[in-house]
Amino acid sequence: MSAADHADERFAPSAEFSAHALIRSRNDLNALCERAAREPEEFWGELARQELHWFEPFQRVLQWEAPFARWFVGGRTNVAYNCIDRHLASWRRNKAAIVWEGENGEQRILTFQELYREVARFANGLKSLGYGKGDRAIIYMPMVPEAAIAMLACARLGIIHSVVFGGFSPEAIKTRVDDLEANLAITADAGVRRGREVPLKRNMDQALRDCPGVRHCVVLHHRGARDAQGAAIGAMQATRDLWWHELVSGQSEQCAAEPLDSEHPLYVLYTSGTTGKPKGVVHTTAGYLLQCHMTMQWVFDLHEEDTYWCTADVGWVTGHSYIVYGPLSMGATTLMYEGAPDFPQPDRFWRVIEKYRVSVFYTSPTAIRSFIKTGDEWPQKHDLSSLRLLGSVGEPINPAAWRWYHKVIGGERCPIVDTWWQTETGSIMIAPVPGAVATKPGSATLPLPGVQADIIDSHGAPVGPGQQGYLVIRHPWPSMFRTLYRDDARYKEVYWSRFPGIYFTGDAARRDADGYFWVLGRVDDVINVSGHRLSTMEAESAMVRHPAVAEAAAVGKPHELKGQALVVFATVKSGRQRSPELSEELRDWIASEIGSFARPDEVRLVEALPKTRSGKIMRRLLRELVVSDKVSGDTTTLEDYSVILKLSSEGKEEEEILSEKKGS
Ligand code: WTA
Repeated sequence: MSAADHADERFAPSAEFSAHALIRSRNDLNALCERAAREPEEFWGELARQELHWFEPFQRVLQWEAPFARWFVGGRTNVAYNCIDRHLASWRRNKAAIVWEGENGEQRILTFQELYREVARFANGLKSLGYGKGDRAIIYMPMVPEAAIAMLACARLGIIHSVVFGGFSPEAIKTRVDDLEANLAITADAGVRRGREVPLKRNMDQALRDCPGVRHCVVLHHRGARDAQGAAIGAMQATRDLWWHELVSGQSEQCAAEPLDSEHPLYVLYTSGTTGKPKGVVHTTAGYLLQCHMTMQWVFDLHEEDTYWCTADVGWVTGHSYIVYGPLSMGATTLMYEGAPDFPQPDRFWRVIEKYRVSVFYTSPTAIRSFIKTGDEWPQKHDLSSLRLLGSVGEPINPAAWRWYHKVIGGERCPIVDTWWQTETGSIMIAPVPGAVATKPGSATLPLPGVQADIIDSHGAPVGPGQQGYLVIRHPWPSMFRTLYRDDARYKEVYWSRFPGIYFTGDAARRDADGYFWVLGRVDDVINVSGHRLSTMEAESAMVRHPAVAEAAAVGKPHELKGQALVVFATVKSGRQRSPELSEELRDWIASEIGSFARPDEVRLVEALPKTRSGKIMRRLLRELVVSDKVSGDTTTLEDYSVILKLSSEGKEEEEILSEKKGS
């Protein structure tokens, strides 16, 4: 069944939910959307004045010289001030800001006042080392409050941060350190996952081997990690490394927030593109924060008393916008969990929800599908009645998973917000406003106020209902990325050249007769494995760095749990033998080059890759092959058809017949 077949299945918000919602009806929402479309600058300008603290007011809302935007021009503010300090003047100073649970059940709760103190001490520590506005920090941390503290301390001083997901390899850290010209690194001795230590400091050491620009590496003593010989993991290097607790000891608990320009870069987050080199997505200060803040209200309908839990990792954009900056800006209680969803048993998430009475829960379709697989008895053991709203992000959610989530987790009482957005968009763009919009399983529904989303064909003409096309955004929005780090040319070329003046998302979508958006997936060489963006080109370039590999072609294949899985076809250099052992070695190789989440499901060592006459690898045919084991599309540009025969089962049969003939 295709997504469109479900277009008639609707779940209207209950009268009770709507009655208490921040936006209560479709009429109210439509009025907001119309106003935002008619007068975008007045709309955003008013919100920015109302919702954020300004050290100096802005003079102009938007300066748009396509494709470069500046929002809230001339204003001065500070993200950390908005996330912490402004709450200290109210009763919220003693409200829990961060609730943390470790994998072994350890617990820490930081109030806004305590968060202020920790951020101030760490920021003062960084200052004492000489860091300040414009410096660049790589943060490679486990899911602990100090990850947020490090981000907020950087934001407070104007240090541009780049968080690297803890699952990335030393090679991936190094690429990011180099591109960013980072001069500061922040890490921990180790993290933990399913009871096993993740050697963060050791990876960092390896990454920094040839990075003389990094003057200091601050190390959080989190696990007291020891290797089998009892030595601390990753020895401290005399001039470069310092323990976090030593750096902050004796530091003042007061630290003024730097009044920063609205357009001061807050962070650079690297994401996969269609070439081997990751793209440094640049987000700035005021516009980014405003839209994260607004979407906490519009999409999560956040109320003061909510306990909000987003299960993403801080290393991804979802963690930035919806664990740290959005919730804290709203003065919300945000829960952080360090560990695996199925540790020690498959009910860990439900246990956490029950224990902390979580009311708003935001997770990924991959996680939901894996819960379906482990069985309903796990959530059923727990009292999930505190939940009132559920969210999904990262990939299209299939209607079956949606319905399960609605029934088994939400007790048919909680609306589901399926949120479409990207690292580049900074905040949620298309999602139901839960008190106002009826949902349909598999659809992200409608664009939020101020988001001019559209679906167009390859000539730029809007497509009709039911027709598939490219998802684009027509008008700039405050939390949009401003460029790719030190690469304006690539920014223009990747996102703005296909349809001049219009932002090209890289996704395909269609709209149904009600105007609801159904996002279908990427149209470029990016695949989405368990909600993590992975570039097939990046996997290929990692693969050909292995001494045995001649050529490689990577493609995505539909996967029951992960959404998509990575399959790499490769040929070996002369003198090397194809073998199952080599395939295994190459899977590990990719994991060590990029990160464990990128480990391919399959490495198929083949005799030759299908190519066009001009020598280009025909990935489309490989994609068809991994799905159906056959190719049906156009093969007229293929140089040598026998290559395809050899790769498919048809070919296997033919090969068998041939070898039988030879034998006889
Ligand atoms: C996909 C994650 C369908 C999409 C926030 C997008 C989705 C890419 C959804 C961005 C959704 C994300 N429905 N597809 N609700 N959410 N995607 O940068 O292909 O890691 O372009 O940002 O994920 O992934 P990214």
